[in-house]
Amino acid sequence: MMTMSSLSSPAPQSVPTPRYSGVRQHKADGAVYTPRRFAEFVAEQMLAVAKLPDKGLVRVLDPACGDGSLLHALLDALPETVRERLDIVGFDTNAGAVHCSLTRLQMAYPGLSLRIEKRDFLECVFRTDGAGELFSNHAPLESFDLVIANPPYVRTQILGAKQAQLLSERFGLSGRVDLYFPFLLGISQILAPDGVMGVIVSNRFLTTKSGQTVRRELLKRFRIHHAWDLGDTKLFDAAVLPAVLVSTGRGFSSAEPIAFSSIYECEEEPREHAADPLTALSCSNGAIVAIPDGRRFHVLHGTLDNGGDPEGVWRVATDTSDSWLETVNAHTWATFSRIGKVRVGVKTTCDKVFVRSDWDTMPENERPELLRPLTTRHCAQRYKPATAKKPKHILYTHEATPAGRVPVDLARYPRSAKYLEIHRATLEARTYVINAGRKWYEIWVPQAPEAWGAMN
Ligand SMILES: C[S@@+](CC[C@H](N)C(=O)[O-])C[C@H]1O[C@@H](n2cnc3c(N)ncnc32)[C@H](O)[C@@H]1O
Repeated sequence: MMTMSSLSSPAPQSVPTPRYSGVRQHKADGAVYTPRRFAEFVAEQMLAVAKLPDKGLVRVLDPACGDGSLLHALLDALPETVRERLDIVGFDTNAGAVHCSLTRLQMAYPGLSLRIEKRDFLECVFRTDGAGELFSNHAPLESFDLVIANPPYVRTQILGAKQAQLLSERFGLSGRVDLYFPFLLGISQILAPDGVMGVIVSNRFLTTKSGQTVRRELLKRFRIHHAWDLGDTKLFDAAVLPAVLVSTGRGFSSAEPIAFSSIYECEEEPREHAADPLTALSCSNGAIVAIPDGRRFHVLHGTLDNGGDPEGVWRVATDTSDSWLETVNAHTWATFSRIGKVRVGVKTTCDKVFVRSDWDTMPENERPELLRPLTTRHCAQRYKPATAKKPKHILYTHEATPAGRVPVDLARYPRSAKYLEIHRATLEARTYVINAGRKWYEIWVPQAPEAWGAMN
């Protein structure tokens, strides 16, 4: 079973669990299923916003339904009078998942109008041939009143270079591509103007540079009612920190500010108690809440502030944080970004091979030629790095050419080649480097080789 959280509940009895060929496939599918309590939270929040029609069909979609936990929670939360009028559609590319969710929903609600299919949602929604498909790029044939989803979150390096490039071209994306983003674009095409979407996504897009496009498109394509940054609540596999968005289609126009809540672990003395982090979210702004496993959380409720820039990072604005920021601004001479470009450093994804402080213990005739001095947090200081006791050096395998940055030709650096060859198996274990069409000895994020010229 894929569910990871302590909040998870076992699948209903005798419901088959999907089979995956292993963790790799699981990762490549972005399949981490939503625990029951989390699914209930999303369903409840959607229905708090939805104004469902009194008569006629109510169309519901989960475009990546997995074991059906989200659809199940939504069905449980809907009033019986609406449940009778539902037309439910679910897609998943995994046959086991399709079987699992179909069985689960049929058992829980026999007689429901259900269509759970093994299909690729992106293929479906972005088909342009109009050949009787469910959706077409230009004229959506059908739209949905409720779309609930935990789309696959698959990072570029797992996706593989080819697929990532295809998605970038197809959806006009720049920078990193995560699979959940095309899903959001797809949902925007099939959500009824006053339909409601409830999605679980990674919270990375809230603040990262690569999230710029996601932030802009979300604000353009949806009317977001409430966003939750569920930070380090560990509702999932720790690798993905979740955020939840509840939005309507663009049909609902409103100048209302967007409600934005966050919950992060803290050390402070709790004044309130809750059964779990999601229940803690119903505590008031500023509350410190303890949960039974001993963790304490700081809950914030405010509005979304992006500094008026559609691509700007999202933060929770509250009266307290606004007045704190005013104080900081009043005492600030300049922000870091006005003085210089703020960048992250190089990222080797194998520091034990590339970054060492004991290169000088190697005989000189074996020491790699490509060593460069590193400024790390141990020696960083104002204006220039301090002289560290044991300075670190990086074996840097890239160079600048008139055509741009390229990996070095190892034949020109025999000592570096010999050293790297010894560690070849370790470096090749970074399969995403090879899958991205790069050389086995490359540094994953090498930044700008020409910048070494400025190091003194
Ligand atoms: C993160 S899981 C979520 C499943 C379920 N909605 C839940 O919340 O438990 C993502 C699911 O998306 C499926 N998936 C991956 N790519 C897909 C695609 N292109 N179209 C439809 N489903 C896809 C995976 O098989 C996986 O079951």
